Amino acid sequence: MHHRGAGGRGARRVRPPHVVKDDGLAAGKGVVVTDDREAALEHARACLTRGGDATVVVEDYLDGPEASLFCLCDGTTVVPLALAQDFKRVGEGDEGPNTGGMGAYSPLDWAPEGLAEDVVARVAQPTVDEMAARGTPFVGVLYVGLALTSRGPKVVEFNVRFGDPETQVVLVRLETPLGALLLAAATGELAGSPELRWSPQHAVTVVVASSGYPGTPRTGDPLFGLEQISADGSGASVLHAGTALDEQGALVSAGGRVLSVVALGDDLASARRTVYEAVDRVDLPGSHHRRDIALAAERGQVQAGDQQ
Ligand code: GLY
Repeated sequence: MHHRGAGGRGARRVRPPHVVKDDGLAAGKGVVVTDDREAALEHARACLTRGGDATVVVEDYLDGPEASLFCLCDGTTVVPLALAQDFKRVGEGDEGPNTGGMGAYSPLDWAPEGLAEDVVARVAQPTVDEMAARGTPFVGVLYVGLALTSRGPKVVEFNVRFGDPETQVVLVRLETPLGALLLAAATGELAGSPELRWSPQHAVTVVVASSGYPGTPRTGDPLFGLEQISADGSGASVLHAGTALDEQGALVSAGGRVLSVVALGDDLASARRTVYEAVDRVDLPGSHHRRDIALAAERGQVQAGDQQ
């Protein structure tokens, strides 16, 4: 349901939980999911006061865990990468406001067998076929955001880019050279690509965010401890996102999601142990991160079709 300039009409017709989304680029922060009808209406009003052609989308609430699937597309052929799960709420137990993503893991041992192929057959390939039929072939990464609901997989969103931080845990396991795959996608030759090779290991990434994120992040804080992570031999690595060098050449925070730490392990428990030992070495005043990334999956508590 799209509502343009007509605050709240949709929220009156649907049952809670209400899902009200700013239909613009909002870094994952434009959606409010709430049982409180007034809060839903308030968010809709706030979106509509943006002016211009502001649009509000009122969506169905989808139960079940979310998953992300990145598909490489060359205009005709679709090659899925490995499934990953992202944690969008800022707080542990999926509490608090939405963010761009506070952590992720891959693979998803709990996902139904053949899910990626099923999503390609039912969602990604028909989309790419239709784009080609319309004379606007899609070449790039089709990011399919899924809810694995009690009524089967549902598409929550499409993006035409890699997702952050899911990409960290997908690409660290991809043994096939990415450059060759991207070249094949760009030149219409994905159909001739060899089958992808994946590390059997499990990957977990945890985002370290600055004070205030996802509201107004504080920047310019000194950042220490990263050298110890690369030196400790655990194999954990740090990917910078919102960092910069100050005038003295010292590393400081420069954004909301400052960095992500990535680790591999033979199972989720060991990947989580390694990643959190490394996260504990990050010294950034006021920073915060979630301690429960991939915890429910490690405990075998995630099931497609059930709420997390
Ligand atoms: N992690 C969510 C996104 O990249 O949009």
